[in-house]
Amino acid sequence: MTANERELARQLLSGHRSQVVTPGGARPQGNSGGPGIAARSGSAVRRGPGRQFADHPGVVDALAKQAAIAQLVDTTGLPHPLFLSPDGPNGALIRSGGRELVNFSSYNYLELAQHPRVIAAANAAAEKYGTSASATRIVTGEIPLYAELEQRLAEIYHAGGALVTSSGFLTNAAVIGFLLAEGDVAVCDSLAHASLVAGTQLAGCRRVTFRHNDPDALEALLRSSRHRFDRALVIVEGHYSMDGDLGSIVEIAAVARKYDCAVLVDEAHALGVLGPHGMGSREHFDLVGDLVDIWAGSLSKAMGSTGGFIAGDADLVRAIKFAAPGMALYTAGPSPSNVAAVLAGLDVIAAEPDRLARLWSNARVFSGALKERGMDLAESQATPIVPVIVPGEIRAGYAAVAMLQRGFNAGAILAPVVPAGTERLRFFLTSEHTREQLLATVENLAEVLGIVEHLPDWSLDSGNVVPPGNPADRL
Ligand SMILES: Cc1ncc(COP(=O)(O)O)c(C=O)c1O
Repeated sequence: MTANERELARQLLSGHRSQVVTPGGARPQGNSGGPGIAARSGSAVRRGPGRQFADHPGVVDALAKQAAIAQLVDTTGLPHPLFLSPDGPNGALIRSGGRELVNFSSYNYLELAQHPRVIAAANAAAEKYGTSASATRIVTGEIPLYAELEQRLAEIYHAGGALVTSSGFLTNAAVIGFLLAEGDVAVCDSLAHASLVAGTQLAGCRRVTFRHNDPDALEALLRSSRHRFDRALVIVEGHYSMDGDLGSIVEIAAVARKYDCAVLVDEAHALGVLGPHGMGSREHFDLVGDLVDIWAGSLSKAMGSTGGFIAGDADLVRAIKFAAPGMALYTAGPSPSNVAAVLAGLDVIAAEPDRLARLWSNARVFSGALKERGMDLAESQATPIVPVIVPGEIRAGYAAVAMLQRGFNAGAILAPVVPAGTERLRFFLTSEHTREQLLATVENLAEVLGIVEHLPDWSLDSGNVVPPGNPADRL
């Protein structure tokens, strides 16, 4: 640890000891997520105009966390780790705040988002159709580019039909929300993305979870409870975005079929990344037939655009297009440029297969070097998503900020996004990271984690709690 970093860590800890007061005046309430002090005390506080949500637990908690982070940044001079603003495309190298950073926080796996062919296609679509669909599809918004992309997606997933939408998150929420209802059950992998969980909430169905990627746990659950529900949908991901492991789709779908369940696979981080030609989980596992009912996904990751999609049985997709709120109904179609970008991106993937090869070579180099240094990569499988476990909010947060200060940007993923105790730095790799950048990152991370070992295991929520003694003295 350099003297400078020792001093920063001291300041970080000292800064963290002081109380955090939210702009609303309420103190954060720790992990409970409970309402602010006024509301909890039961006193009849009049919220008044414009202040109905000032004591909302979600608002109080979010403001408290932001205030705690801002205070740490102010007192230590460390860079703010959130809402980083790149001055250009978001790839392996970014410029932000006048600095060049090696960046591991973009989903731009193949760097298609700044590829000249993709940009040219997006520009041409804007010239031809304008910047917006300017209508729901059912009215006058059915731009021909949609059908072109839907045809390509249906082919990729060997499906009868596909539907493109303007958001990956909303696609998951809307499609599950439409298909399931009270009396049905969503059987989710325990690490299923928030958008999938949101769908189950919208549906009003029961949601149960099984141990991550464990077909036996799924079977035990279905054996004991499948009979209690009408329809059942097993929900998994092709490539887990926090953990960098692949969904055991074949085994899980086989169990699902045995218990008369449908299967939905979220391909957000799989399309463009998995499979010999980057065509996702279906290609990777060489799946034939209809083992998967609904492929859902995002166009904002490797596809270098923005939007979502589903692929599945032609009649089902047609029905969803016609009747599911938030898919093609009650929402405008995706922007012409975004759809044209995906079409061009698919052409680039086919024309420049070395991009995918470089991405996977980078994944092997990076995971291998981290493991050699003894780092905990959890259950990750040397894919382009690499978690390095740094348990504890403060420790993980510090590691991310210290890396940022050294010129490497990797997001700290904290509870409740991941289970408490498995906080991590998450590295998204792209095809354009160089071997030198990857090895330099590993060296720097090893040094930073050496410092982190000395930090206490506090959480940001405990911003108003002073643990016994002064942990800064231990440094
Ligand atoms: C697994 C998964 N599904 C869905 C989404 C939502 O996709 P989008 O960003 O296109 O809304 C994400 C986004 O991070 C994701 O990681």
